Amino acid sequence: MDKIPFAPPRIDQAIIDEVTAALQSGWITTGPRTKQLEKEIAARTQSPAVLCLGSATAGMELVLRWLGVGPGDEVIVPAYTYCATANVVVHCGAKPVMVDVLHTDGTIDPEKVAAAITPRTKAIMPVDLGGMPANYRELRDLFQLPAVQSQFQARTPEQEKLGRIALIVDAAHSIGASYRRQPAATYGDATVFSFHAVKNLTTAEGGAVCLNFPPPFDNSEIYKTLNRQSLHGQSKDALAKFGGNAWEYDVLEAGYKCNMPDILAAIGLVEIKRYEEDTLPVRKAQFARYHLLLQDYPWAELPYYATAEKQSSCHLYLLRIRDITLEQRNAIIEKVMEAGVSVNVHYKPLPLLSVYRDMGYTANDYPVSLDFYHREISLPVFYDLTPNQQERVVKVLATAVKEVVSQEV
Ligand SMILES: Cc1ncc(COP(=O)(O)O)c(C=O)c1O
Repeated sequence: MDKIPFAPPRIDQAIIDEVTAALQSGWITTGPRTKQLEKEIAARTQSPAVLCLGSATAGMELVLRWLGVGPGDEVIVPAYTYCATANVVVHCGAKPVMVDVLHTDGTIDPEKVAAAITPRTKAIMPVDLGGMPANYRELRDLFQLPAVQSQFQARTPEQEKLGRIALIVDAAHSIGASYRRQPAATYGDATVFSFHAVKNLTTAEGGAVCLNFPPPFDNSEIYKTLNRQSLHGQSKDALAKFGGNAWEYDVLEAGYKCNMPDILAAIGLVEIKRYEEDTLPVRKAQFARYHLLLQDYPWAELPYYATAEKQSSCHLYLLRIRDITLEQRNAIIEKVMEAGVSVNVHYKPLPLLSVYRDMGYTANDYPVSLDFYHREISLPVFYDLTPNQQERVVKVLATAVKEVVSQEV
């Protein structure tokens, strides 16, 4: 029987045609297609300014650096996330302060965030886990607490101007998600999507920063700064230097090199135009079908993907198996894989990774993350996944659980 992959990208004729058109246009680096993609994302997320980049990681790091986050500062992140969330904090020379997540949907626990705030805290970086928005309202409410306000200490003009801790959302999974019926990207000061190959909306590799800093910030000015910093700090990008006698440029600062090329934006342009009407409904239907297929199994702890407040982008189907150990979870995965179904685990909590363990973080300090990890199996979700394949996934899984756990299934 054919293997069921985990999350292959949707490469169809429309994508091939648009990438071919980009190649044939003669303009393959950052140019009109990237700028068009930024406009399309801005319109759909109600963002005042959107910058496309080579990855979400680059986007998060650029925003932190623009804010002036550096040595001596702290940034609060969930312990349960991909390493990128904390790595960018380390790149800046600051300290990632890890806190545990909510048992319900695995997003950062606002009460634990409140307890972790110190005068050194410059940003909170929630993660929209699997596409489910974090509890933005509760996080933003923390900024109103007198104890939080009084201890904030700005070190840079940007921090001074903001006058509070920044909310920088790792929305790598959540383009198209909503919170209180608004696009999720309207709640953070900056919201950063990933367009990596396995994501709901891909450009092969890529990311976008949605800028939504409050007045008196001018988000289009922040856009210009970050755009320049994504291209070595050059005063002109390749397009501006092209043609006529426009070759001369200056370098205003020692910037980075993390722009998005037009070849990749071409994929994104096709993807975004069909995202709301096609991709998202298909993924929601697949989540609903898994729910239906799994609901009668007592061992299946179904993921939250739609509540009164939140609608997930349905990126990852984060199933948990009740009452199992890490060893049993791993044995189940082995059997499922052997039967030709690709599954995955999201995530190994950061303190279990050598780099963070060596820095002194301890997994036992994050019991909810640890428990989530021990019992989690992510099921395949991708555009071409058929109902029959979903039935097979669940059947194979149920057999594996039965074999590994002596439990009625
Ligand atoms: C939660 C989370 N944050 C950040 C990233 C980084 O995204 P990128 O690969 O676009 O840098 C990922 C990628 O998988 C992710 O899952």
